[in-house]
Amino acid sequence: MIRARITGTGSYVPEKVLTNLDIEKFLDTSDEWIRTRTGINERHIAADGENTSDLATRAAERAMEMAGVSAADIDLIVVGTITGDYPWPATACIVQSNLGAINAGAFDVSAACSGFLYALSCAVDRVEAGRSKKALVIGAEALSRIVNWEDRNTCILFGDAAGAVVLEACEGEHGVLSTHLHADGTHLELLYQPGFGTRMQPSEQALKDRNYFLHMQGNEVFKVAVRSMTDVANIALKANNMSVEDVDLFIPHQANIRILNATAKKIGFRDDQVYINVERFGNTSGATIPLAMDEANRAGRIKEGDILLLDAFGGGFTWASAIVRW
Ligand code: UT7
Repeated sequence: MIRARITGTGSYVPEKVLTNLDIEKFLDTSDEWIRTRTGINERHIAADGENTSDLATRAAERAMEMAGVSAADIDLIVVGTITGDYPWPATACIVQSNLGAINAGAFDVSAACSGFLYALSCAVDRVEAGRSKKALVIGAEALSRIVNWEDRNTCILFGDAAGAVVLEACEGEHGVLSTHLHADGTHLELLYQPGFGTRMQPSEQALKDRNYFLHMQGNEVFKVAVRSMTDVANIALKANNMSVEDVDLFIPHQANIRILNATAKKIGFRDDQVYINVERFGNTSGATIPLAMDEANRAGRIKEGDILLLDAFGGGFTWASAIVRW
């Protein structure tokens, strides 16, 4: 059977770091509140003129370098993002042009914080079907551009980043073993960006109402996130005839330390099986999982043959998991 194997990982975060102490200076909040309620100490913020496609391109270059593949070898680019450079065309097309990936098809996937796993699933299916040999899958976000920096309920959570993997068609037992995708659109207004799609056009009133910004009812999202991430992780384990003991590294979407800990505990993981970096980057939506995977990989925390469980939840609602044999 042809499998899609991850042969390279890469990530990129903007240089500028915004700490909780920096936020304290312009918002009615405190470092203590943010740390204890979210586990976040700091996040990275894209510079003026630095766009989602720039972050994505740099992460992709690093992943390609590790995999030892050239831009011309890439036949597919899928970007999971909700903060594309433009409403359309796809940010993946800008990445394709930046890289000079002249042989690649390119499209974006919109599944919010589950965006990377949705993108991965699309690419894995094409690789396994024999339609793609070398694919780039990227999660990239510049969320700082769509959060309301006057809303303490949301802005403290988010950051900018990109992560990427190269997937290659390989024979054998290594690669992405499964992907599971779920969605429930009935709760979309708990976490969404009201403007400016076709439902709400830009107007003076809409701008005044802050409708361009991300809106979230955090405590409602919290409950569904823990339940859904637990469910979809268990579905993945069952589908692969695995138990929590078989998993070497659990990489959950990094939204909030309390969500991560509650989910890991409900699934049954020990602390040393769980990868956490939310304290340094905050919630970078579609970028959290590939960013964490690249960090863990470069730190030598992932070894050949290791089993990884990837797990995400986000706006839509969407939730997803993947099991990978490294
Ligand atoms: O990526 C997937 C999608 N997103 C998420 O998974 C995020 C999910 N939600 C969360 O992470 C948490 O719900 C938050 C961190 C957003 C909020 O934590 P919480 O424990 O659910 O707090 P809360 O919303 O219930 O608010 C508790 C209090 C409120 O004050 P009152 O009404 O009790 O007086 C808030 O106004 O905390 C207040 N508060 C703050 N205080 C200081 C909210 N944000 C802040 C803040 N600084 N930044």
